[in-house]
Amino acid sequence: MAKAGFKLVINARRKNILEFIATDLFDKYKTETVIVEGDLSSETATQHLIDETAHLPIGIFIINAGYGTSGKFLDNSIESEMNMLDLNCKSVLIQSHAFANRLRTNNQKGAIIMLSSMVAFQGVPNASNYAATKAYVQSLGEGLSHELKSDNIDILCACPDPVNSSFSERANMKMGKALTPDKVGMPILNSIGKRRIVLPGFLTKFLVYNLRMLPRWAKVRIMGKIMSGFTAHQTN
Ligand SMILES: NC(=O)c1ccc[n+]([C@@H]2O[C@H](COP(=O)([O-])OP(=O)(O)OC[C@H]3O[C@@H](n4cnc5c(N)ncnc54)[C@H](OP(=O)(O)O)[C@@H]3O)[C@@H](O)[C@H]2O)c1
Repeated sequence: MAKAGFKLVINARRKNILEFIATDLFDKYKTETVIVEGDLSSETATQHLIDETAHLPIGIFIINAGYGTSGKFLDNSIESEMNMLDLNCKSVLIQSHAFANRLRTNNQKGAIIMLSSMVAFQGVPNASNYAATKAYVQSLGEGLSHELKSDNIDILCACPDPVNSSFSERANMKMGKALTPDKVGMPILNSIGKRRIVLPGFLTKFLVYNLRMLPRWAKVRIMGKIMSGFTAHQTN
């Protein structure tokens, strides 16, 4: 987005990394970047992000922050599972409501991109709660993409293949072959206003299109096999 000439607002918990990115983008593209530090699993921090950006004419909101957990549900701490629900679902709900309202109030055309996942389309054993959080995002996004069309607000659900990022370490998954972020970012940005769902990469497209006709229980079993591969190191 910086390369394309956008001004940016970026949020995360680690201010030093945000500052590094802002400096790097300025050096490379002369990008003006506003930093808003905050843990979006907290309602207060989510509201802070909304308030801090209220005066800015933002046209594209990317609701990206999220993480996964994996392994045996009963062995994971309930605190971590609830925190994931707060970040992956509650904050997404609050942000999409606030940003879409802002666009409508300003009579401004705009877009909201929500990071969903290939796990969003059925239950996934060994990542049951993570898959449930992404099913929430996918369902919310699909509904809003129709509901907000008449307000000139495009909602795009992005469901990428596994991506080489910090995600797998935090989720304790070993995902094998993964896409680089640039192979995911551009297809997502190019889909704004053209699609409601974008599936960057081969695996997600393959699974979504080929499993479509199967009964739900069969899809759950297949996704369970894939997740067993991603989490095999936990039991070895
Ligand atoms: N990587 C994949 O294979 C994959 C596939 C499909 C979908 N997704 C989805 O894509 C999104 C981004 O994943 P990613 O691969 O980029 O993960 P990542 O490398 O772990 O990056 C997550 C980003 O969100 C920030 N973040 C994490 N927790 C936060 C919090 N509580 N409050 C505010 N910011 C927070 C992180 O910065 P700080 O740590 O400094 O806060 C970081 O900038 C997630 O929603 C994920 O579920 C990922």
